[in-house]
Amino acid sequence: MICLGKKIDHTLVSRDTIRAFVKRLGEEIHRDYEGKELYLICVLKGSFMFMADLIREINLPCQIDFMSVSSYAGEKSTGVVKINKDLDHSIAGKHVLIVEDIVDTGLTLNHLKSLLSTRNPASIGIVTAFDKPSRRKVDIKVDYIGMEVPNEFIVGYGLDLEGYGRNLPDVVVLSDN
Ligand code: IMP
Ligand code: MG
Repeated sequence: MICLGKKIDHTLVSRDTIRAFVKRLGEEIHRDYEGKELYLICVLKGSFMFMADLIREINLPCQIDFMSVSSYAGEKSTGVVKINKDLDHSIAGKHVLIVEDIVDTGLTLNHLKSLLSTRNPASIGIVTAFDKPSRRKVDIKVDYIGMEVPNEFIVGYGLDLEGYGRNLPDVVVLSDN
């Protein structure tokens, strides 16, 4: 049992597949930011595991920071982001890369990117482990994508269902019994 009476129905993305795309993303980022320094922003909590793996595949000078936001997207059609934990340092003049676990409607990320853009970074990009393009509500440019996934609710590798399941090394789909 994982949580709330649910168990694993099937594995959607194995740890080996994840390891392979994280390595590829590290190479792509290295190629694009060669000669620069990176400032990676982990969007808590779901991205903590991806962030930890990704930075070990980026062979460039980099610093990390953490941010926690919640989205009111369900209540307001435009989606409004509330900052629960802000960055520790200024991003002015820095090459910022937002590290996300999954882009779903895109509302949270859209607002986070607009918000961070007002702080005058040198550049701002987005890297996500998973992408659910079928659910997109706003047109947002995601610069680096680990893997596209179908419109199914997934847990594992940092992704949760009501706080549970983040510890699973593979990404799975749950079932009720
Ligand atoms: P959105 O793109 O604003 O809709 O929000 C994306 C956020 O919703 C992600 O950062 C996750 O925290 C959460 N989310 C979306 N799809 C899933 C899923 O399949 N499993 C777990 N969390 C998800
Ligand atoms: Mg998230």
